[in-house]
Amino acid sequence: MNLEAKDLAITTDRLILRPLTMADAPTVARLITEKISINTAPIPWPYSLQDAQSWLSTMKPDQVFGIFLPDQGLIGAVEIALNDGNEIGFWINDEFAGHGYATEAVTAALDYNFSTHPVTTISSSAWVDNIGSQQVHLKVGFEEAGRKHHFWPNRQAEVPVVRFILTRERWLQRQLANCPSDSHPLPSR
Ligand SMILES: CC(C)(COP(=O)(O)OP(=O)(O)OC[C@H]1O[C@@H](n2cnc3c(N)ncnc32)[C@H](O)[C@@H]1OP(=O)(O)O)[C@@H](O)C(=O)NCCC(=O)NCCS
Repeated sequence: MNLEAKDLAITTDRLILRPLTMADAPTVARLITEKISINTAPIPWPYSLQDAQSWLSTMKPDQVFGIFLPDQGLIGAVEIALNDGNEIGFWINDEFAGHGYATEAVTAALDYNFSTHPVTTISSSAWVDNIGSQQVHLKVGFEEAGRKHHFWPNRQAEVPVVRFILTRERWLQRQLANCPSDSHPLPSR
């Protein structure tokens, strides 16, 4: 797939997901909080404009989506790094947490990825004390795949994490369970 960033946009009931650009860097820097950093392995704290610019400069357009509320602008991001692990990560600014936005955005990002890329499994991990993240993973279909210690850069320590996986088969089963019987079949790769 060779889409220009400007061509990509995913609309959900309440949200718009689109690739972030360098113009979003000041907003990203403002929205990242210590809570997000502590719970999200690669995000440093304190978080500067340069950190946001550095992150944005490395991103692949259809692997990182900004999460936008039409009347409020950017509120978070969801990233699926298509590599060996196909790891997903996401965050919602503290002010906007608790409204189901992560569930809605992560669901849309997973649907986009399974529909667009030949991935068989998407994986993730959450710090054991991060109940909110674990709840989101389970709500969107992930299953627990064990627990282990993982090096967490922000803590400079090994911390216990819960591993999650979502297979294409399970994603497809959930799609079919939610589909009216006269809808078109979904791609299975
Ligand atoms: C975790 C996070 C993404 C949740 O975002 P959100 O938009 O509030 O999540 P949702 O509203 O979709 O919540 C989904 C479910 O999780 C539950 N939940 C969310 N945060 C919770 C918390 N702190 N404690 C307990 N449950 C929580 C919600 O109640 C909801 O369940 P319900 O529908 O049964 O009520 C957000 O708080 C965040 O960005 N945290 C910091 C970064 C982070 O942890 N990212 C994930 C890294 S693995």
